[in-house]
This record gives sequence, C-alpha cells and structure tokens, in this order.
Amino acid sequence: MALAVIGGALLSAFIGVLFDKLASPEFVNFIRGKKSDKLLQKMKRQLLVVKVVLADAEKRQITDSNVKEWLDLLNDIVYEVDDLLDEASTKAATQKELSNCIKLTKLPSGMQNLVNLRHLEILHTPIKEMPKRMGKLNQLQRLDTYIVGKHIENSIKELGGLPNLHGSFSIEELENVTKGEEALEARIMDKKHITHLSLEWSIGNDNSINFQIELEVLSKLQPHQDLESLFIRGYKGTRFPEWVGNFSYQNLTYLYFHNCKNCCMLPSLGQLPSLKFLRISYMKSVKTIDAGFYKNENCSSVTPFPSLEWLHIFDMPCWEVWNSSVLEAFPVLKDLHIQNCPNLRGDLPKHLPSLQTLLVTNCELLVSSVPRAPTLRTLEIRDSNTVVFHEFPLLVESIEVEGGPMVESMMEAITNIQPTCLQSLTLQNCLSAISFPSDRLPASLKTLDICGLKKLKLSMQHKHELLESLSIKNSCDSVMSLPLATFPNLSTLEIKDCENMKSLLVSGSESLKSLNYFHISYCPNFVSFPREGLSAPNLTSFSVSHCDKLKSLPNQMGTLLPKMEYLNISNCHQIESFPGGGMPPNLGTIEISNCEKLLSSKTWVCMDMVTSLKVQGPCDGINTFPEEGLLPPYLTSLCLYNLSSLETFDCKGILHLMSLRALYIESCKKLENIAGETMPVSIIKLSIEGCPLLQKRCHKKDREIWPKICHIRGIKIAGRWI
Ligand SMILES: *[C@@H]1O[C@H](CO)[C@@H](O)[C@H](O)[C@H]1NC(C)=O
Ligand SMILES: *[C@@H]1O[C@H](CO)[C@@H](O)[C@H](O)[C@H]1NC(C)=O
Ligand SMILES: *[C@@H]1O[C@H](CO)[C@@H](O)[C@H](O)[C@H]1NC(C)=O
Ligand SMILES: *[C@@H]1O[C@H](CO)[C@@H](O)[C@H](O)[C@H]1NC(C)=O
Ligand SMILES: *[C@@H]1O[C@H](CO)[C@@H](O)[C@H](O)[C@H]1NC(C)=O
Ligand SMILES: *[C@@H]1O[C@H](CO)[C@@H](O)[C@H](O)[C@H]1NC(C)=O
Ligand SMILES: *[C@@H]1O[C@H](CO)[C@@H](O)[C@H](O)[C@H]1NC(C)=O
Ligand SMILES: *[C@@H]1O[C@H](CO)[C@@H](O)[C@H](O)[C@H]1NC(C)=O
Ligand SMILES: *[C@@H]1O[C@H](CO)[C@@H](O)[C@H](O)[C@H]1NC(C)=O
Repeated sequence: MALAVIGGALLSAFIGVLFDKLASPEFVNFIRGKKSDKLLQKMKRQLLVVKVVLADAEKRQITDSNVKEWLDLLNDIVYEVDDLLDEASTKAATQKELSNCIKLTKLPSGMQNLVNLRHLEILHTPIKEMPKRMGKLNQLQRLDTYIVGKHIENSIKELGGLPNLHGSFSIEELENVTKGEEALEARIMDKKHITHLSLEWSIGNDNSINFQIELEVLSKLQPHQDLESLFIRGYKGTRFPEWVGNFSYQNLTYLYFHNCKNCCMLPSLGQLPSLKFLRISYMKSVKTIDAGFYKNENCSSVTPFPSLEWLHIFDMPCWEVWNSSVLEAFPVLKDLHIQNCPNLRGDLPKHLPSLQTLLVTNCELLVSSVPRAPTLRTLEIRDSNTVVFHEFPLLVESIEVEGGPMVESMMEAITNIQPTCLQSLTLQNCLSAISFPSDRLPASLKTLDICGLKKLKLSMQHKHELLESLSIKNSCDSVMSLPLATFPNLSTLEIKDCENMKSLLVSGSESLKSLNYFHISYCPNFVSFPREGLSAPNLTSFSVSHCDKLKSLPNQMGTLLPKMEYLNISNCHQIESFPGGGMPPNLGTIEISNCEKLLSSKTWVCMDMVTSLKVQGPCDGINTFPEEGLLPPYLTSLCLYNLSSLETFDCKGILHLMSLRALYIESCKKLENIAGETMPVSIIKLSIEGCPLLQKRCHKKDREIWPKICHIRGIKIAGRWI
C-alpha cells in the first residue's frame, strides 16, 4: 500500500492505535514475562519519534520528496510492528523478532522543513548521523541527542539555532569538532533550560587527535550556571578547562567522568556546593588523587564536598595513591564505592561521619583501615587486600567479606566487639579453621551466607532463634548432619556442595513452621530425609539436585508439606518414584532433569494436581517418551528438553491429557518420529525447536507426521509459525 493512499493523518492515527496496543495489559504482561521492559520502552520510544515527526509532517502538508520517501519506509515499518504486536498479544512473538523489527537508521534529509517540530528522541536508535541543517528547527524543545557531523551542515554549529532546548541533552562524536570556535557557535552557555548535559567523544580510533583541540572545544562548551547534571565521556585532553568544578555551579548535583584517558589529574571538585553524586570511572592516567581534588589552592575556606552523599570510583587501572589527608572533607557522604582499582594502595578517608555503605571490591593492593564511620550500616569488601579496623562500626547491620585475610580479621572483630545490630553476614573463601565466638552466632543475626569455608566450625549446640535464612555452600566439612531444631525460625535453607553432609536431623514431631524455600544440591553423600518425613507447613518451593545417593523424596509430602507449589528434582539417579502418602494439593509445577529411573517408572500416583511439567535430559536410556498413563492427567503444559536419546514421541502417552494446551519439544537431537494416531485436540500450541530430524518432517507433505499435528492452531517450528 502506497503512502499516497495512507496519508500522514491516517498513518499517525494508526500509530496511536499501536501505542494503545503497546500499553495493553496482555502485551505488557507478555513482555514482562520475557523480562524485557527495556524492549518495550525502546519500542515505545521509537514509535514516539515516528509519531512526532509524522504529526509535524501532517501539519505542513508533505511536499518534500525526501520526507515522503522516508514516510514510505516508515509506513512499512509501522505495519511490520503492528503484525508483531498482534502476534505478541497472542503470546507468540519472540524477543528477537521484536528487536529486529525496526530498521530505522536514518532520519529524512528534508527534516529541516519540519519547523514546528518540538520533540525528537533518537537515543537507542541506530541512527548514525543527523540530517542537515537541524539549526532551522528553532522550535525544538526536546532533543535527547545530537551527533556531531563533519559536514558544515550537520556540524556542531547547527546547535546555535536551537535556543529552546530543555531538559536532558547529549552531544556525541565531539571528535568531529575541529576548532574551538565552532564549539562556541553551538552557544551552549545560552541554553538555560538544559538541566542535564552529556558531552561525549567517541572511544577508540584516536590516532589523529590533537589533544589541545579537545581542551579548546571543552572550554568553549561551558554550560550555563544553572546546570544540574554533567557527564563527560571520552574526552582526551590532558587536563580539564577551568570551568569544570568551578564553585559558581551552585546547582550542580550530579557529575560523572568516564574514560578521559589522558587526564593525569582529576579536576578540583570539592568546592561545588550542591554536588551530591560523583562517579568517576576508567580515568586511565590518574595515579594520584590528592589535595587538589578537594580544593583549589585559592579558596581554602570551605569544607570540601559539603553536600556529597554518593562517591563511586571504579575501573581505575593505574590509580595508586589516595592522599585523603584533608580531614574535614565529605561531611555528609553516605555511600562510598571503590571497585576495580588493582593498584590502589592507600588511603581511605580516615573519618566519614555520615557513611552508611562502604563497598570495596577488586582492590588487591589496598592496605588501609576502614574509615571511622559511626553510622556505617553496610560493609562489603571483596577481592581486596587486608583492610583493618581501628574502630569497628558498632551499628553495622550487614557485612559481606571475601578472602582469607578479610574473613579472619572480620571474625576477630566480631569476637572482640560482639556487634549487637548485625543482621546479615556473608563470608566467602577462607581456608583457615575458624569458628564463631563461644560457638554462637551473633545474637541479632537473621541471614547467614557462607561459601568456601571448608574449615568453618558451625556449632549446633545452641539454638539460633532469629536466623531466617541460612546458606551453606562448599563449607563446614565437619557437619555431617544438620539438626534443624537449631534453627527453628528458618524461612530459607540452601545447602550446596557439602561433601560430607549426609542428612537432615529432625526429632519427633518437630516442625519447621516458617520454612518457605528449601534447596539442596551437589551433596554426593546426602542419603536421606528424616524417616518421619519433613514437616514444613509453610514450604512452597522444594528443590533437590545432584544428590547421587538419595533414594527418595521425603514421605507424606501431602500432609507434611501442604503448601508446596513447586518441585524441582534434578540429577538424582537413585530416585525411582514419587513418595507414598500423597502429594501436596497445591503442587502445580514440577521440573525433572536427568532422573532416568523416575522417567522410566510405570506410573506416578496421586499427581492430579500438577498442571505444568518440564522434563529435561539427557537421560541416555530413554528412546521413547512418554509411557502410556505415566503423566499427570490434568497437565496443561508439557515441555521436553534435551532428551539426548529420544527418537520417538509417543502420542499415546499424552492422549489421556484432556486439558493439555501447550507442548514444547526442544533440543532433542535424535527425535524423528511421532508415534500414535494424533495429538489431543485440546492442544493449541506446539513448539518444536532444536530437533532437526523431526523439524524436517513437520510440513504438509509428510503424510505420516502432518495428520497428527495439523489440527493444532499454533505450530511453531524452529521459531517460525507455520
Ligand atoms: C565523526 O568522526 C568519526 C571519526 O572520525 C567518523 O567515523 C564519523 O563518521 C564522523 N561522524 C559524522 C556524523 O560525520
Ligand atoms: C538554582 O536553582 C534555583 C531553584 O532551584 C534557582 O532559583 C537558581 O536560579 C538556580 N541557579 C543558581 C546559579 O543558583
Ligand atoms: C569561576 O567562575 C567565576 C564566575 O564565573 C569566575 O569569576 C572565576 O574566575 C572562576 N574561577 C575559576 C578558577 O575559573
Ligand atoms: C590562584 O590565584 C592566582 C592569583 O589570584 C592565579 O594566578 C592562579 O591561577 C589561581 N590558581 C588557580 C588554580 O585557580
Ligand atoms: C598528602 O597531601 C599532604 C597535603 O597536601 C602532603 O603534605 C603530603 O605529603 C601528601 N602525602 C602523600 C603521601 O603524597
Ligand atoms: C521468627 O521470624 C519472624 C520473621 O520471619 C520474626 O518476626 C519472629 O520474631 C521470629 N521468631 C522468633 C522466635 O525469633
Ligand atoms: C509463611 O510464608 C508466608 C510467605 O509465603 C509468610 O508471609 C508467612 O509469614 C509465613 N508463615 C510463617 C509462620 O512463617
Ligand atoms: C531446577 O534445578 C536445576 C538444577 O539445580 C536448575 O538448573 C534449574 O534452574 C532449576 N529450575 C528452576 C526454575 O529454578
Ligand atoms: C544437554 O545434554 C547434553 C548431553 O547430551 C549435555 O552435555 C548438555 O549439557 C545438556 N544441556 C543442557 C542445557 O542441559
């Protein structure tokens, strides 16, 4: 259909409809389910561009041939999107198809004629250059990004004609500005309504760059004094111009410097009165941060960084020295993150009176003491050298440390101080023999997460009433059975990779009243659950995997685990059947991976409540599946995945599933046949992917396969609907 017929008005009305579809609950849920809110946002943004341009084109009665041509292209795209949305709302499109659907790479060259245009967003589109003479769009208020071109007509000078820009604005590819004078013509200083400014040079291919020019350009891009937020990225000058950090930016609250690789010194930023957030990353030439960072030599009166709450410095490969001797700095700093600074030796600031969170990771050479920080709540130190405490933060609530020296010094600190507010403790990777003071966990502890502490002695003598979450991974070799009575209030229990763990101990009619989530995996010697069964009235999710010696699931699940909804069994080769005594009434979803004996059994009893089943391989012995009468009768969804020896899918095994709606068969390389007469009529979706032999046969010409599946409304083969 040609654009001449559609016309601008119609097309933009149509886009309105698309917008509504994007906002429809079905579509939103579909996209949410795919965890791709971003994709949704992106599509909306792209359609928005289309919409505003169209609205304007309409007003002006399209005559320009370039605009027309472009609208033609848009027209196609819009219909393509619409098709996809229709598919998506019937839960049919895949993410990939959606993100490929918009191929807009160029704005029309006649854009300058849209003189009433007020709003244009191009961020996250693959547009590579701006149309010529954008400076004529003098009504433009919102333009998120301008990509500087080399041609005079799409150079930075064009920005001089856009006095009304509001809000956030980025200038990209600033390397294409070759004279400071040109930058001045952009009249950035006059654009009083820009609140967030991002100045970006491309990263890479900088052979022919004259660093002096970049300094000149940045000098001339000085923004107005009401600016609130500034981001400088990829700047290759050796120093920053004077305006950066000048105290006259009274409203500047957010600053980010990234990848300015030739700057040896950070600008002096401590005098910015409102600066709240400061982020510095990948400044490759910075070796030292010293007094100059805090104050300019000429104004020494004010407290440096009087409003800074949040300082994140990361990916600084050459940074060695932090001379933080300016004592009174950072009076309100709450959040300090230092990450990936492998050469940093010292020193953290000594006193941070308002600090709440300290995070130090991958600073292998750092030798410093933790700042005196009476209000510290969260402390995380990983992959870093010893950091010592001169004064342990008494109110600390959450500690996460990794590595032998750090774990040891933390245990020592805990022993000496006995912190009373500690709620969450994570300890990782320490080979030494360690234990908690007097064999007791800190009394206030609610979450304990230990990983790679094989010699940790975890005593079971005393009850830990408050503990709600316990995770033991590759740790506590001395513990062979876990007496659950020790942790009466657990809601989450995770045990992984514990070679010596044999069993859970439950005495008598003990009940884990709060247990909600239980997961045990990679415990090769774990043999059994308590014979009386495991009583956990509140358990909803249960998962066992890679427990080679385990012969059965806990007994009496139906009565002892009445709330269980989800069961995941994987790589438990000895388990032959579901346990006796009935299954939990709310058990809706079961996943079974590589449990051949369980799949080879003749019947699974008492499974009427299960509606969703996923069976995963390899299960080398299984050539035909499913056995007649095996599967739970009220399944609505069945998924077979990666059954490496499966050759035949047997319809007789699903004929009794009167409610089956969706069947997914994936990555079964040897699958070639469908046996039995036909698939149940209730199926509305069949998806086959990664099964090359069977896929070859799923078409009308295959007289054997086709009649068995042709009644299914939605058939998707290798991602395509047929
Ligand atoms: C800007 O310069 C870069 C690097 O020289 C070049 O690749 C790019 O095409 C230029 N951009 C425009 C829009 O001219
Ligand atoms: C800062 O913001 C306030 C309003 O929040 C405004 O009145 C003032 O003019 C802005 N600029 C400067 C330099 O203070
Ligand atoms: C900071 O800005 C003010 C006002 O624009 C100016 O007078 C002063 O010279 C600047 N200071 C520096 C160090 O550039
Ligand atoms: C400090 O002030 C002197 C004279 O007022 C000036 O020459 C010098 O450039 C200033 N230094 C800085 C870093 O602004
Ligand atoms: C740190 O800065 C202070 C004050 O500028 C100076 O006296 C001291 O020598 C510096 N220390 C290091 C290790 O650079
Ligand atoms: C058990 O945990 C709950 C929160 O899940 C908490 O409110 C309760 O106080 C704890 N019980 C005991 C006995 O500590
Ligand atoms: C049972 O679990 C629910 C959450 O699934 C929780 O809100 C409730 O407090 C738990 N009951 C007990 C006794 O822990
Ligand atoms: C089920 O358990 C297996 C093995 O631990 C795991 O890979 C899988 O992600 C689990 N499934 C879900 C939905 O958690
Ligand atoms: C699928 O099965 C093969 C063995 O046939 C195995 O090597 C592979 O890890 C399995 N893939 C997944 C994702 O489970």
